[in-house]
Amino acid sequence: MINFERMYMMKYLKLTFLFLLVCTLADAQKHTNERAQWFTDARFGMFIHWGVYSGAEGYWKGEKLRHGNNYAEWIMYRNRIDKDEYLTLLERFNWDEIDPEQWVILAKKSGMKYVTITAKHHDGFGLWKSDVGDFHLGNFTDRDIIQELSDACQKHGLKLGLYYSHWVDWEHEFGWDHSKELSDFSTEEFDKYWQEKVIPQVRELLTNYGEISMMWFDMWINHSESVVTKEQLLQLKSLIRNLQPDCILNSRLGLSIEEDPDIDFKTLGDNQLGSRKEEFPWQSPATVAHSWGFHRSDTEWKSTSTLIKSLINNVSLNGNLMLNIGPRANGEVPYEISQRMLDMGKWLEVNGESIYGAGAFDLDKDLHDWGRITFKKENNIFKLYLHVYTWPLEKKIPLTGVTSAPSRIYLLADKQKSPLQFSHVGAFTEIQIPSLAPDPFVSVVVLEYPEYPQISDNLVGKSVTGGFSLTPLNAVSGMSETEIIPESRFATIPMHALIENPTKLQWRIYVDMPGTKNIDVSYSYQNELIKSSLSISLGNQILTHGIQPTGKTIGEPNQNWIIDNFQSHRIGKIDFHEAGYYDIELAVSPGQQEELKFQWIWIK
Ligand code: GLC
Repeated sequence: MINFERMYMMKYLKLTFLFLLVCTLADAQKHTNERAQWFTDARFGMFIHWGVYSGAEGYWKGEKLRHGNNYAEWIMYRNRIDKDEYLTLLERFNWDEIDPEQWVILAKKSGMKYVTITAKHHDGFGLWKSDVGDFHLGNFTDRDIIQELSDACQKHGLKLGLYYSHWVDWEHEFGWDHSKELSDFSTEEFDKYWQEKVIPQVRELLTNYGEISMMWFDMWINHSESVVTKEQLLQLKSLIRNLQPDCILNSRLGLSIEEDPDIDFKTLGDNQLGSRKEEFPWQSPATVAHSWGFHRSDTEWKSTSTLIKSLINNVSLNGNLMLNIGPRANGEVPYEISQRMLDMGKWLEVNGESIYGAGAFDLDKDLHDWGRITFKKENNIFKLYLHVYTWPLEKKIPLTGVTSAPSRIYLLADKQKSPLQFSHVGAFTEIQIPSLAPDPFVSVVVLEYPEYPQISDNLVGKSVTGGFSLTPLNAVSGMSETEIIPESRFATIPMHALIENPTKLQWRIYVDMPGTKNIDVSYSYQNELIKSSLSISLGNQILTHGIQPTGKTIGEPNQNWIIDNFQSHRIGKIDFHEAGYYDIELAVSPGQQEELKFQWIWIK
């Protein structure tokens, strides 16, 4: 018998410790969170990359941008363009057609709550009339894009954020430019740039354009690895705090949120979505294809449902999504982008309640194979929003892990909130759904609870097809000594646990439908003879199985693509005599050089 009691006690102690730690962290973030509350509630915003580079469209003198990432706003640096010549790109700007209000209207229709524009990108060119230097719009037109955008945001009720490239500046002779790595770099000179350009320009931006809700900096490495000093960053931060105390700052300022809890939110990598729940505010900057600025051969558009799922994913982990437009030099937003955004807006019109002001719930993000959950407390009702990515053919949604019974369940798309039938037992809720999904992208089912819904953690979720998939990733215990081998060779070799020593893995499931169930196990075993056995047990029901050689298979023909074969074996049946929690154990004792590559157990 497995000592589960002890295991759960240890787990409980660990959880209590974690809870206290999280409370302490949450406390340290308290002030920041207050300032960033609007941002946390907003969840969805627009990024705008527009500047001189938009005139190049990813090409310079017939040559394509020298980088496979297609970042068109980097053309000045990548294609080694001289700064005076670079400005000839402004000839393509048709000022009669350029109308920043249209960007704000698009953001609003798309359900976004804020816009962040590249006031100054790495090229060093300011999109406003500046008193600093001559590399800004004021020298070429009487238009001031920051002013126009600020007016439009005010008119349409959106918050305004400004991107300002503080570290990299290819125009100023003392600003950072990666090719300066080739020569001796003077920190005094960099400070001259900092004091003469960065500080006064940020002062202008925060003085002349009304409320700036967010300053978005873009140093994607920590200051300790760059030429910028911590003192310079603190100087910039205190300037902003003095001028606009409510303005929030991102971690790409160069100070991590761990190093300085006064940083309001963490920015993940470009197009990096969240992978775990965080207690502090965070955001993914994302593009619809690859480039940020308009690039005419950037065509790998993400689908609308991919973008909607990116937003849901982030909200389900307490994050934010800022989705980019790269308008052309005449201000026009590429149709492929605007169309997807407008579709997202339509989706949010119906389903926005599950996104705005919503956040993470306590269950593991990968627990359910039908989608993701967000959570919100509203008027003393606690709501779980099940985002169903693939509408189950079985016409029911299995929800594992919530032990509280919901008071009612309905489709978010249904204005009448007609109740859906459901059953609830132990840690399992099963919801009856209509055969047609209410939404072509992602449909949302709402569960209401009179109190905070209680959970039973660390269960393996029941699949929509009715089975349980027990894997190295969802084992409750036993994996600490066992290596997980990620999928490889174009995923023809699946992820598995490499078991070389005597090992016991345990899982916990909640069975709602008692009865006798088949037990299948999938593994690869590369010996020629059956030498040892594995056993799968539930209390005193023990199934023993002589480990079979599984041999090789071919991934792709004629490519020397010989790989280990992973094969499923039915090893018997186990009786689950009543509804309840069950602890399943896999025990393997391989001899010398008899490693077992374990993939999964399937119970159904
Ligand atoms: C990167 C790039 C930049 C882009 C930004 C958006 O850091 O340098 O061109 O503005 O990410 O997240």
